Amino acid sequence: MFKDSFEEQLLVLTQAKDWKAVLELSESLPLDRKSKYLWTWPTGEALENLKSTLHQLGIQKLLSIGCGTGLLEWIIAESIGVSVYGLEVDRSWWESSYSPTSYIKLNFINEICMQPSFLQECCDTKKWDFALVFCFFNNGEAFREYLRLYHGSVVIIVGPSPEVGIHTDPAPLKADFCESGWKLLKYFNISNDDIISFYTKS
Ligand SMILES: C[S@@+](CC[C@H](N)C(=O)[O-])C[C@H]1O[C@@H](n2cnc3c(N)ncnc32)[C@H](O)[C@@H]1O
Repeated sequence: MFKDSFEEQLLVLTQAKDWKAVLELSESLPLDRKSKYLWTWPTGEALENLKSTLHQLGIQKLLSIGCGTGLLEWIIAESIGVSVYGLEVDRSWWESSYSPTSYIKLNFINEICMQPSFLQECCDTKKWDFALVFCFFNNGEAFREYLRLYHGSVVIIVGPSPEVGIHTDPAPLKADFCESGWKLLKYFNISNDDIISFYTKS
């Protein structure tokens, strides 16, 4: 795909593993162009809070469902030092010359055989030691299907603050898990307009 000058710079900075410069670069973008690359651009403070929350929860691996280009996941992995894996639909699109650059290795859903072990394989583990992440995900039915497969205990949701008036499913503060046991542990702003929430299952 044609790369504009912002994307060219992003590529150089991500290859240099300079996540701070990536965040600084995003500040030069007009608001209406920011979501072209990423739905939410995290603040440094939010990354610090995320680091301590993951530490508190004993989580060192994340599986991001519907990660898109994986740029947020790349920023999280580089800044916090956790391992981040991505899952997307439509391999043929993401591997085509029309698709945007991917910043992490993508896994693709296997519609023929979606077993719990598939989520573990995406994270190179046989344990349930990873959290699921849904960032601006908008498919409640698929969200609940992933929960059915997931036998771990931490789900992280990133999405708009209620007052912004943008719909996502799950919404960070009102996720419908459709099964008992999940509780909202904490949440904070990841950017000016967006929230990151942490649900745990005992
Ligand atoms: C609004 S985009 C958000 C992308 C990215 N998380 C971000 O914040 O920039 C939602 C993404 O979910 C993906 N998606 C939709 N249904 C999915 C499913 N059943 N499993 C995995 N990904 C899915 C779409 O392909 C799309 O990339």
